[in-house]
Amino acid sequence: MKRTVWVMGLGAALSLAGARNAGAADAPTFTKDVAPILFAKCVSCHRPGEVAPMSLLKYEQVRPWSKAIRQKVTTREMPPWGADPRYGKFANDMSLTDAQIQTIVAWAEAGAPKGDDKDMPEPPAIATGWTYGEPDYVISMMAPYHVPPEGEMPNLSFFSPIPFKEDRFARLLEWRPGNRSVVHHGTADARELPSGGKLDAGGEFIYDDGTKENDAQNFRLQRSERSIQNALAGIRLGGAGGVRLTDYVPGRTAMPISDPNVGTRLPAGMYVHWGMHYQPTGRPEIDQSRLGIWFTEKTVVQEVYRRQVGDPLPSSADRTGFFRVQGVDIPHNTRFMREELGWPNLEAGVDNYEVMSFTPVTEPITLFGFTPHMHLRGKDKAWFVTYPDGRQETLLSIPKYDFNWQNYYELAHPIKIPSGSVVSSVAHYNNGVSNKFNPAPDKEVYWSEQSWDEMYCPFVVYTVDSQTIKSAPSKSTSGTSSKSAKSGKQRPQ
Ligand code: HEC
Repeated sequence: MKRTVWVMGLGAALSLAGARNAGAADAPTFTKDVAPILFAKCVSCHRPGEVAPMSLLKYEQVRPWSKAIRQKVTTREMPPWGADPRYGKFANDMSLTDAQIQTIVAWAEAGAPKGDDKDMPEPPAIATGWTYGEPDYVISMMAPYHVPPEGEMPNLSFFSPIPFKEDRFARLLEWRPGNRSVVHHGTADARELPSGGKLDAGGEFIYDDGTKENDAQNFRLQRSERSIQNALAGIRLGGAGGVRLTDYVPGRTAMPISDPNVGTRLPAGMYVHWGMHYQPTGRPEIDQSRLGIWFTEKTVVQEVYRRQVGDPLPSSADRTGFFRVQGVDIPHNTRFMREELGWPNLEAGVDNYEVMSFTPVTEPITLFGFTPHMHLRGKDKAWFVTYPDGRQETLLSIPKYDFNWQNYYELAHPIKIPSGSVVSSVAHYNNGVSNKFNPAPDKEVYWSEQSWDEMYCPFVVYTVDSQTIKSAPSKSTSGTSSKSAKSGKQRPQ
Protein backbone atom coordinates (compact mmCIF):
# COMPACT_ATOMS: atom_id res chain seq x y z
CA MET A 1 0.00 0.00 0.00
CA LYS A 2 2.72 2.38 1.03
CA ARG A 3 4.63 1.52 -2.11
CA THR A 4 1.69 2.25 -4.39
CA VAL A 5 1.21 5.66 -2.86
CA TRP A 6 4.90 6.36 -3.40
CA VAL A 7 4.70 5.36 -7.04
CA MET A 8 1.62 7.49 -7.60
CA GLY A 9 3.34 10.38 -5.91
CA LEU A 10 6.34 10.01 -8.13
CA GLY A 11 4.14 9.74 -11.20
CA ALA A 12 2.39 12.97 -10.30
CA ALA A 13 5.69 14.69 -9.74
CA LEU A 14 7.01 13.46 -13.05
CA SER A 15 3.99 14.59 -15.01
CA LEU A 16 4.16 17.99 -13.30
CA ALA A 17 7.81 18.26 -14.25
CA GLY A 18 6.86 17.22 -17.79
CA ALA A 19 4.24 19.92 -18.05
CA ARG A 20 6.78 22.53 -17.01
CA ASN A 21 9.59 21.12 -19.07
CA ALA A 22 9.56 23.99 -21.52
CA GLY A 23 10.21 26.60 -18.83
CA ALA A 24 12.27 24.49 -16.44
CA ALA A 25 15.56 25.17 -18.19
CA ASP A 26 15.21 28.87 -17.61
CA ALA A 27 13.51 28.67 -14.20
CA PRO A 28 15.06 31.23 -11.87
CA THR A 29 17.83 29.90 -9.63
CA PHE A 30 18.82 30.85 -6.14
CA THR A 31 22.34 32.01 -6.90
CA LYS A 32 21.51 34.00 -9.99
CA ASP A 33 18.02 35.39 -9.44
CA VAL A 34 16.78 34.98 -5.89
CA ALA A 35 19.82 35.71 -3.71
CA PRO A 36 20.17 39.27 -5.08
CA ILE A 37 16.55 39.97 -4.09
CA LEU A 38 16.94 38.49 -0.63
CA PHE A 39 20.19 40.39 -0.10
CA ALA A 40 18.56 43.67 -1.09
CA LYS A 41 15.21 43.26 0.65
CA CYS A 42 15.34 40.63 3.38
CA VAL A 43 18.69 40.05 5.06
CA SER A 44 18.74 43.39 6.89
CA CYS A 45 16.42 41.51 9.27
CA HIS A 46 16.92 37.88 8.22
CA ARG A 47 20.49 37.33 9.39
CA PRO A 48 22.05 36.07 12.61
CA GLY A 49 21.55 38.38 15.57
CA GLU A 50 18.72 40.29 13.91
CA VAL A 51 15.07 40.29 14.72
CA ALA A 52 13.74 37.81 12.15
CA PRO A 53 13.42 34.15 13.12
CA MET A 54 15.72 32.70 10.41
CA SER A 55 18.74 33.76 8.36
CA LEU A 56 18.27 34.00 4.60
CA LEU A 57 21.93 34.47 3.66
CA LYS A 58 22.78 30.97 2.38
CA TYR A 59 21.03 28.52 0.07
CA GLU A 60 20.98 25.83 2.75
CA GLN A 61 19.18 28.26 5.08
CA VAL A 62 16.70 29.48 2.49
CA ARG A 63 15.80 26.15 0.86
CA PRO A 64 13.57 24.82 3.69
CA TRP A 65 11.66 28.11 3.74
CA SER A 66 10.95 28.36 0.01
CA LYS A 67 7.21 27.65 0.36
CA ALA A 68 6.79 30.03 3.28
CA ILE A 69 8.76 32.69 1.43
CA ARG A 70 6.59 32.26 -1.62
CA GLN A 71 3.48 32.70 0.49
CA LYS A 72 4.71 35.71 2.48
CA VAL A 73 5.88 37.62 -0.58
CA THR A 74 2.71 36.95 -2.58
CA THR A 75 0.54 38.27 0.24
CA ARG A 76 3.04 41.15 0.61
CA GLU A 77 3.40 40.40 4.33
CA MET A 78 7.17 40.32 3.73
CA PRO A 79 9.05 42.58 3.56
CA PRO A 80 6.84 44.41 6.06
CA TRP A 81 5.87 47.58 4.21
CA GLY A 82 2.31 48.75 4.70
CA ALA A 83 1.92 51.54 2.14
CA ASP A 84 -0.65 51.21 -0.63
CA PRO A 85 1.55 51.53 -3.76
CA ARG A 86 -1.01 53.78 -5.44
CA TYR A 87 -0.20 56.78 -3.24
CA GLY A 88 3.04 58.61 -2.57
CA LYS A 89 6.64 57.75 -3.40
CA PHE A 90 8.88 56.87 -0.50
CA ALA A 91 12.67 57.03 -0.33
CA ASN A 92 12.87 54.01 1.99
CA ASP A 93 10.27 51.84 0.23
CA MET A 94 11.38 48.27 0.94
CA SER A 95 8.55 46.52 -0.88
CA LEU A 96 9.19 44.06 -3.69
CA THR A 97 8.32 44.91 -7.29
CA ASP A 98 5.80 42.68 -9.06
CA ALA A 99 8.68 41.29 -11.15
CA GLN A 100 10.66 40.36 -8.02
CA ILE A 101 7.62 38.59 -6.58
CA GLN A 102 7.16 36.67 -9.84
CA THR A 103 10.81 35.60 -9.79
CA ILE A 104 10.51 34.26 -6.25
CA VAL A 105 7.23 32.47 -7.04
CA ALA A 106 8.62 30.88 -10.23
CA TRP A 107 11.74 29.75 -8.36
CA ALA A 108 9.73 28.20 -5.50
CA GLU A 109 7.41 26.45 -7.97
CA ALA A 110 10.36 25.04 -9.89
CA GLY A 111 11.47 23.28 -6.69
CA ALA A 112 13.77 26.04 -5.39
CA PRO A 113 16.82 25.13 -7.52
CA LYS A 114 20.21 26.28 -6.33
CA GLY A 115 21.84 27.09 -9.68
CA ASP A 116 25.48 27.61 -10.39
CA ASP A 117 27.74 28.52 -7.46
CA LYS A 118 29.68 30.96 -9.59
CA ASP A 119 26.53 33.11 -10.02
CA MET A 120 26.28 33.69 -6.27
CA PRO A 121 26.67 37.37 -5.37
CA GLU A 122 28.73 38.60 -2.43
CA PRO A 123 26.57 38.89 0.69
CA PRO A 124 25.94 42.50 1.66
CA ALA A 125 28.35 44.06 4.12
CA ILE A 126 26.87 43.86 7.59
CA ALA A 127 27.10 47.09 9.53
CA THR A 128 28.64 46.14 12.84
CA GLY A 129 28.91 49.68 14.14
CA TRP A 130 26.85 52.76 13.48
CA THR A 131 25.17 52.85 10.08
CA TYR A 132 26.40 56.36 9.33
CA GLY A 133 29.90 56.20 10.84
CA GLU A 134 30.94 57.46 14.26
CA PRO A 135 28.36 59.89 15.73
CA ASP A 136 29.31 63.29 17.16
CA TYR A 137 27.80 62.31 20.48
CA VAL A 138 26.08 59.33 22.11
CA ILE A 139 23.40 59.24 24.79
CA SER A 140 22.86 55.75 26.25
CA MET A 141 20.31 54.25 28.54
CA MET A 142 21.79 54.81 31.98
CA ALA A 143 22.32 51.11 32.70
CA PRO A 144 21.88 47.73 31.02
CA TYR A 145 18.35 46.38 31.47
CA HIS A 146 17.79 42.69 32.19
CA VAL A 147 14.91 41.33 30.14
CA PRO A 148 13.38 38.17 31.60
CA PRO A 149 13.27 35.04 29.38
CA GLU A 150 9.50 35.01 29.08
CA GLY A 151 6.24 36.75 29.82
CA GLU A 152 4.39 39.68 28.33
CA MET A 153 6.26 42.90 29.01
CA PRO A 154 4.52 46.23 29.48
CA ASN A 155 5.95 49.26 27.70
CA LEU A 156 8.85 50.32 29.88
CA SER A 157 10.09 53.85 30.56
CA PHE A 158 13.70 54.87 31.07
CA PHE A 159 15.23 58.33 31.22
CA SER A 160 18.70 59.62 30.37
CA PRO A 161 19.63 63.26 30.86
CA ILE A 162 20.29 65.44 27.82
CA PRO A 163 23.54 66.93 29.08
CA PHE A 164 23.92 70.01 26.87
CA LYS A 165 24.01 73.53 28.26
CA GLU A 166 22.00 74.92 25.36
CA ASP A 167 19.56 73.41 22.89
CA ARG A 168 21.41 71.47 20.18
CA PHE A 169 20.11 70.31 16.80
CA ALA A 170 20.71 66.90 15.30
CA ARG A 171 20.63 66.39 11.57
CA LEU A 172 20.53 62.66 12.23
CA LEU A 173 19.70 60.46 15.18
CA GLU A 174 20.38 56.75 15.06
CA TRP A 175 19.02 54.31 17.60
CA ARG A 176 21.24 51.30 18.19
CA PRO A 177 19.72 48.58 20.32
CA GLY A 178 22.23 47.00 22.66
CA ASN A 179 20.62 43.68 21.80
CA ARG A 180 18.70 43.51 18.56
CA SER A 181 17.01 40.22 19.24
CA VAL A 182 15.09 41.52 22.24
CA VAL A 183 14.18 45.11 21.32
CA HIS A 184 10.87 44.75 19.55
CA HIS A 185 10.48 48.47 19.01
CA GLY A 186 11.05 51.66 20.93
CA THR A 187 10.46 55.39 21.01
CA ALA A 188 12.77 58.22 22.08
CA ASP A 189 11.19 61.49 23.21
CA ALA A 190 12.59 64.60 24.85
CA ARG A 191 10.69 64.94 28.12
CA GLU A 192 10.67 66.38 31.60
CA LEU A 193 10.64 63.88 34.44
CA PRO A 194 7.21 63.16 35.92
CA SER A 195 6.56 64.94 39.20
CA GLY A 196 6.80 63.43 42.68
CA GLY A 197 9.80 61.19 42.49
CA LYS A 198 13.30 60.64 41.15
CA LEU A 199 15.38 58.46 38.85
CA ASP A 200 17.21 55.41 40.12
CA ALA A 201 20.67 54.38 38.85
CA GLY A 202 19.10 52.48 35.97
CA GLY A 203 17.18 55.53 34.74
CA GLU A 204 13.84 54.18 35.97
CA PHE A 205 11.48 56.64 37.66
CA ILE A 206 10.56 55.97 41.27
CA TYR A 207 7.65 57.83 42.83
CA ASP A 208 7.98 59.23 46.34
CA ASP A 209 5.89 56.35 47.72
CA GLY A 210 8.50 53.87 46.46
CA THR A 211 6.55 52.48 43.49
CA LYS A 212 8.27 52.34 40.12
CA GLU A 213 6.72 53.71 36.99
CA ASN A 214 7.80 50.45 35.37
CA ASP A 215 6.18 48.30 37.97
CA ALA A 216 4.02 45.97 35.92
CA GLN A 217 1.51 45.79 38.74
CA ASN A 218 1.20 49.52 38.58
CA PHE A 219 0.22 49.27 34.95
CA ARG A 220 -2.25 46.50 35.56
CA LEU A 221 -3.92 48.77 38.07
CA GLN A 222 -3.63 51.69 35.74
CA ARG A 223 -7.30 52.57 35.87
CA SER A 224 -6.77 53.59 39.48
CA GLU A 225 -7.29 57.23 40.34
CA ARG A 226 -3.66 57.53 41.39
CA SER A 227 -2.11 56.34 38.17
CA ILE A 228 -4.38 58.63 36.14
CA GLN A 229 -3.29 61.55 38.30
CA ASN A 230 0.37 60.57 37.79
CA ALA A 231 -0.09 60.35 34.05
CA LEU A 232 -1.85 63.70 33.96
CA ALA A 233 0.84 65.32 36.08
CA GLY A 234 3.49 63.99 33.70
CA ILE A 235 1.61 65.21 30.65
CA ARG A 236 1.02 68.68 32.09
CA LEU A 237 4.67 69.02 32.97
CA GLY A 238 6.23 67.58 29.87
CA GLY A 239 3.65 68.42 27.25
CA ALA A 240 1.62 65.61 25.71
CA GLY A 241 4.14 62.80 25.58
CA GLY A 242 7.06 65.19 25.10
CA VAL A 243 8.75 65.80 21.77
CA ARG A 244 9.43 62.80 19.58
CA LEU A 245 13.11 62.55 18.72
CA THR A 246 13.13 59.30 16.83
CA ASP A 247 11.98 55.74 17.15
CA TYR A 248 13.24 52.31 16.38
CA VAL A 249 11.63 49.41 14.62
CA PRO A 250 13.54 46.33 13.46
CA GLY A 251 15.24 46.93 10.15
CA ARG A 252 15.28 50.69 10.65
CA THR A 253 17.55 52.53 13.03
CA ALA A 254 17.16 56.13 11.90
CA MET A 255 14.67 58.46 10.25
CA PRO A 256 17.03 60.29 7.93
CA ILE A 257 16.02 63.61 6.45
CA SER A 258 17.64 64.53 3.21
CA ASP A 259 17.86 68.27 3.94
CA PRO A 260 21.08 69.14 5.84
CA ASN A 261 19.59 72.44 7.04
CA VAL A 262 17.00 70.65 9.09
CA GLY A 263 17.55 69.44 12.63
CA THR A 264 15.82 67.77 15.57
CA ARG A 265 15.96 69.83 18.74
CA LEU A 266 17.63 68.28 21.79
CA PRO A 267 16.37 70.58 24.54
CA ALA A 268 18.95 71.41 27.20
CA GLY A 269 18.05 70.21 30.68
CA MET A 270 15.40 67.75 29.53
CA TYR A 271 15.67 63.95 29.34
CA VAL A 272 15.66 61.36 26.61
CA HIS A 273 12.65 59.24 27.47
CA TRP A 274 13.10 55.70 26.17
CA GLY A 275 9.80 53.92 25.60
CA MET A 276 10.97 50.31 25.37
CA HIS A 277 8.93 47.44 24.09
CA TYR A 278 10.95 44.31 24.81
CA GLN A 279 10.01 40.92 23.48
CA PRO A 280 11.35 38.06 25.59
CA THR A 281 13.30 35.47 23.57
CA GLY A 282 13.18 32.44 25.84
CA ARG A 283 16.60 33.29 27.28
CA PRO A 284 17.58 36.00 29.74
CA GLU A 285 18.73 38.99 27.66
CA ILE A 286 20.39 42.31 28.39
CA ASP A 287 19.84 45.53 26.48
CA GLN A 288 21.31 49.00 26.72
CA SER A 289 20.09 51.02 23.76
CA ARG A 290 22.00 54.05 22.53
CA LEU A 291 21.14 57.17 20.61
CA GLY A 292 23.83 58.36 18.19
CA ILE A 293 23.69 62.09 17.45
CA TRP A 294 25.08 63.89 14.43
CA PHE A 295 24.78 67.64 14.91
CA THR A 296 23.75 69.99 12.13
CA GLU A 297 26.66 71.66 10.41
CA LYS A 298 24.96 75.01 9.79
CA THR A 299 24.62 77.80 12.28
CA VAL A 300 21.06 78.47 11.17
CA VAL A 301 18.65 75.57 10.88
CA GLN A 302 15.00 74.72 10.66
CA GLU A 303 13.59 72.58 13.39
CA VAL A 304 12.06 69.30 12.32
CA TYR A 305 8.77 68.55 14.05
CA ARG A 306 7.39 65.07 14.55
CA ARG A 307 3.86 65.88 15.57
CA GLN A 308 0.48 64.34 15.16
CA VAL A 309 -2.12 65.36 12.68
CA GLY A 310 -4.58 67.22 14.92
CA ASP A 311 -1.82 69.11 16.74
CA PRO A 312 -1.63 72.75 15.69
CA LEU A 313 1.48 74.06 13.94
CA PRO A 314 4.03 75.19 16.53
CA SER A 315 3.44 78.80 15.49
CA SER A 316 -0.36 78.73 15.72
CA ALA A 317 -2.47 79.03 18.82
CA ASP A 318 -3.45 75.84 20.57
CA ARG A 319 -6.88 74.34 19.85
CA THR A 320 -6.81 75.15 16.12
CA GLY A 321 -6.52 71.46 15.33
CA PHE A 322 -9.40 69.17 16.05
CA PHE A 323 -10.53 65.55 16.05
CA ARG A 324 -13.64 63.87 14.72
CA VAL A 325 -14.34 60.78 16.77
CA GLN A 326 -17.13 58.55 15.52
CA GLY A 327 -18.45 61.53 13.58
CA VAL A 328 -18.43 63.99 16.49
CA ASP A 329 -16.04 66.98 16.39
CA ILE A 330 -13.88 67.27 19.51
CA PRO A 331 -11.59 70.27 19.87
CA HIS A 332 -7.99 69.47 20.56
CA ASN A 333 -6.13 70.49 23.66
CA THR A 334 -2.70 68.99 24.23
CA ARG A 335 -3.00 69.61 27.97
CA PHE A 336 -5.69 67.00 28.40
CA MET A 337 -5.87 63.27 27.91
CA ARG A 338 -8.22 61.96 25.29
CA GLU A 339 -10.43 60.46 27.90
CA GLU A 340 -10.84 63.86 29.55
CA LEU A 341 -11.71 65.38 26.20
CA GLY A 342 -14.62 62.99 25.94
CA TRP A 343 -13.39 60.43 23.45
CA PRO A 344 -15.77 57.50 23.78
CA ASN A 345 -14.18 54.14 24.63
CA LEU A 346 -14.06 51.37 22.04
CA GLU A 347 -16.91 49.15 23.04
CA ALA A 348 -16.51 45.39 22.80
CA GLY A 349 -17.34 44.19 19.31
CA VAL A 350 -17.25 47.58 17.54
CA ASP A 351 -15.50 46.83 14.24
CA ASN A 352 -15.21 50.13 12.38
CA TYR A 353 -14.61 52.83 14.97
CA GLU A 354 -13.44 55.95 13.17
CA VAL A 355 -11.12 58.73 14.28
CA MET A 356 -10.13 61.65 12.09
CA SER A 357 -7.92 64.63 12.84
CA PHE A 358 -7.16 67.91 11.15
CA THR A 359 -4.26 70.33 11.28
CA PRO A 360 -4.96 73.68 9.61
CA VAL A 361 -1.80 74.81 7.85
CA THR A 362 -1.66 78.41 9.05
CA GLU A 363 1.68 79.14 7.34
CA PRO A 364 3.70 77.29 4.67
CA ILE A 365 5.31 74.04 5.77
CA THR A 366 7.37 71.26 4.15
CA LEU A 367 6.42 67.63 4.73
CA PHE A 368 9.12 64.95 4.99
CA GLY A 369 7.33 61.80 6.10
CA PHE A 370 4.89 59.91 8.29
CA THR A 371 4.76 57.24 10.99
CA PRO A 372 1.61 55.44 12.10
CA HIS A 373 1.00 54.54 15.68
CA MET A 374 -1.97 52.59 16.98
CA HIS A 375 -2.20 49.45 19.07
CA LEU A 376 -3.75 46.06 18.46
CA ARG A 377 -7.23 47.23 17.36
CA GLY A 378 -5.80 49.57 14.71
CA LYS A 379 -7.10 48.56 11.29
CA ASP A 380 -6.01 51.17 8.77
CA LYS A 381 -4.63 54.67 8.64
CA ALA A 382 -4.24 57.32 5.96
CA TRP A 383 -2.91 60.86 5.59
CA PHE A 384 -4.29 63.53 3.26
CA VAL A 385 -3.82 67.14 2.31
CA THR A 386 -6.62 69.43 1.15
CA TYR A 387 -5.21 72.40 -0.75
CA PRO A 388 -6.74 75.90 -0.55
CA ASP A 389 -8.49 75.29 -3.91
CA GLY A 390 -10.26 72.26 -2.43
CA ARG A 391 -8.17 69.64 -4.23
CA GLN A 392 -7.50 66.63 -2.02
CA GLU A 393 -4.49 64.33 -2.27
CA THR A 394 -3.76 61.08 -0.46
CA LEU A 395 -0.25 61.33 0.96
CA LEU A 396 0.01 57.84 2.44
CA SER A 397 -2.44 55.02 2.94
CA ILE A 398 -1.82 51.96 5.11
CA PRO A 399 -4.79 49.73 4.36
CA LYS A 400 -3.77 46.88 6.69
CA TYR A 401 -2.13 48.35 9.73
CA ASP A 402 0.22 46.03 11.62
CA PHE A 403 1.22 46.90 15.19
CA ASN A 404 4.55 45.13 14.66
CA TRP A 405 5.59 47.32 11.76
CA GLN A 406 5.34 51.00 12.57
CA ASN A 407 7.61 52.14 9.77
CA TYR A 408 8.76 55.63 8.99
CA TYR A 409 7.54 56.46 5.50
CA GLU A 410 10.07 58.95 4.18
CA LEU A 411 8.80 60.93 1.20
CA ALA A 412 11.10 60.56 -1.82
CA HIS A 413 10.56 64.27 -2.43
CA PRO A 414 9.55 66.60 0.40
CA ILE A 415 6.17 68.27 -0.30
CA LYS A 416 5.57 72.02 0.11
CA ILE A 417 2.17 72.70 1.66
CA PRO A 418 0.83 76.24 1.22
CA SER A 419 -0.91 78.25 3.90
CA GLY A 420 -4.66 77.69 3.89
CA SER A 421 -4.35 73.92 3.37
CA VAL A 422 -5.45 71.30 5.86
CA VAL A 423 -3.48 68.14 6.64
CA SER A 424 -5.79 65.41 7.83
CA SER A 425 -5.72 61.78 8.85
CA VAL A 426 -8.23 59.00 9.34
CA ALA A 427 -7.95 55.68 11.14
CA HIS A 428 -10.29 52.81 11.86
CA TYR A 429 -10.31 50.33 14.72
CA ASN A 430 -11.70 46.84 15.00
CA ASN A 431 -12.44 45.70 18.54
CA GLY A 432 -14.31 42.64 17.33
CA VAL A 433 -13.51 38.96 16.85
CA SER A 434 -12.73 39.44 13.14
CA ASN A 435 -9.52 41.24 14.16
CA LYS A 436 -7.01 38.37 14.50
CA PHE A 437 -4.68 40.53 16.62
CA ASN A 438 -7.40 41.42 19.13
CA PRO A 439 -6.30 39.94 22.47
CA ALA A 440 -9.67 40.53 24.19
CA PRO A 441 -12.65 41.16 21.89
CA ASP A 442 -15.00 40.96 24.88
CA LYS A 443 -13.40 43.98 26.57
CA GLU A 444 -14.10 47.67 26.32
CA VAL A 445 -10.90 49.50 25.37
CA TYR A 446 -9.74 52.82 26.79
CA TRP A 447 -7.52 55.48 25.25
CA SER A 448 -4.14 55.17 26.97
CA GLU A 449 -0.51 54.29 26.41
CA GLN A 450 -0.62 50.61 27.29
CA SER A 451 -0.66 48.19 24.42
CA TRP A 452 -3.89 46.59 25.69
CA ASP A 453 -5.52 50.03 25.39
CA GLU A 454 -5.63 52.14 22.23
CA MET A 455 -3.89 55.14 20.77
CA TYR A 456 -4.35 57.33 17.72
CA CYS A 457 -1.06 58.93 16.67
CA PRO A 458 -0.74 59.84 13.01
CA PHE A 459 2.76 61.31 13.10
CA VAL A 460 3.77 63.77 10.47
CA VAL A 461 7.31 65.08 10.06
CA TYR A 462 7.69 68.64 8.82
CA THR A 463 9.43 71.99 9.01
CA VAL A 464 7.92 75.46 9.10
CA ASP A 465 9.28 77.31 6.07
CA SER A 466 9.61 80.75 7.69
CA GLN A 467 11.67 79.45 10.56
CA THR A 468 15.34 80.23 11.13
CA ILE A 469 16.92 79.03 14.33
CA LYS A 470 20.45 79.69 15.52
CA SER A 471 22.23 76.47 16.28
CA ALA A 472 25.64 75.46 17.58
CA PRO A 473 27.08 73.43 14.69
CA SER A 474 28.94 70.14 15.07
CA LYS A 475 32.37 71.74 15.38
CA SER A 476 31.24 73.41 18.59
CA THR A 477 31.49 71.07 21.55
CA SER A 478 29.83 73.40 24.03
CA GLY A 479 28.36 71.40 26.85
CA THR A 480 29.65 68.09 25.52
CA SER A 481 32.72 66.01 25.93
CA SER A 482 34.02 64.24 22.87
CA LYS A 483 35.53 61.58 25.10
CA SER A 484 32.17 60.35 26.29
CA ALA A 485 30.97 60.29 22.70
CA LYS A 486 33.71 57.82 21.83
CA SER A 487 33.17 55.53 24.77
CA GLY A 488 29.44 55.59 24.13
CA LYS A 489 28.77 55.96 27.82
CA GLN A 490 27.01 58.94 29.25
CA ARG A 491 26.33 59.29 32.91
CA PRO A 492 24.08 61.90 34.49
CA GLN A 493 25.87 65.01 35.70
C1 HEC B 1 12.20 44.68 8.64
C2 HEC B 1 12.61 43.34 8.96
C3 HEC B 1 12.27 42.25 7.97
C4 HEC B 1 12.45 42.26 6.62
C5 HEC B 1 13.05 43.36 5.77
C6 HEC B 1 11.97 40.99 6.13
N1 HEC B 1 11.51 40.23 7.17
FE1 HEC B 1 10.69 38.39 7.04
N2 HEC B 1 10.30 38.41 9.03
C7 HEC B 1 10.69 39.39 9.91
C8 HEC B 1 10.24 39.03 11.24
C9 HEC B 1 10.48 39.83 12.51
C10 HEC B 1 9.53 37.82 11.13
C11 HEC B 1 8.84 37.04 12.24
C12 HEC B 1 7.58 37.71 12.67
C13 HEC B 1 6.59 37.86 11.58
O1 HEC B 1 6.24 36.86 10.90
O2 HEC B 1 6.14 39.00 11.36
C14 HEC B 1 9.58 37.48 9.72
C15 HEC B 1 8.99 36.34 9.20
C16 HEC B 1 9.18 35.88 7.91
C17 HEC B 1 8.69 34.62 7.40
C18 HEC B 1 7.84 33.62 8.19
C19 HEC B 1 8.71 32.80 9.08
C20 HEC B 1 7.88 31.82 9.87
O3 HEC B 1 8.27 31.52 11.00
O4 HEC B 1 6.86 31.36 9.37
C21 HEC B 1 9.10 34.52 6.11
C22 HEC B 1 8.86 33.36 5.17
C23 HEC B 1 9.83 35.73 5.81
N3 HEC B 1 9.86 36.53 6.93
C24 HEC B 1 10.41 36.02 4.59
C25 HEC B 1 10.95 37.24 4.26
C26 HEC B 1 11.43 37.58 2.96
C27 HEC B 1 11.45 36.62 1.77
C28 HEC B 1 11.84 38.87 3.01
C29 HEC B 1 12.37 39.70 1.87
C30 HEC B 1 11.68 39.64 0.62
C31 HEC B 1 11.65 39.34 4.36
N4 HEC B 1 11.11 38.33 5.08
C32 HEC B 1 11.98 40.61 4.81
C33 HEC B 1 11.39 40.54 9.59
C34 HEC B 1 11.68 40.96 8.31
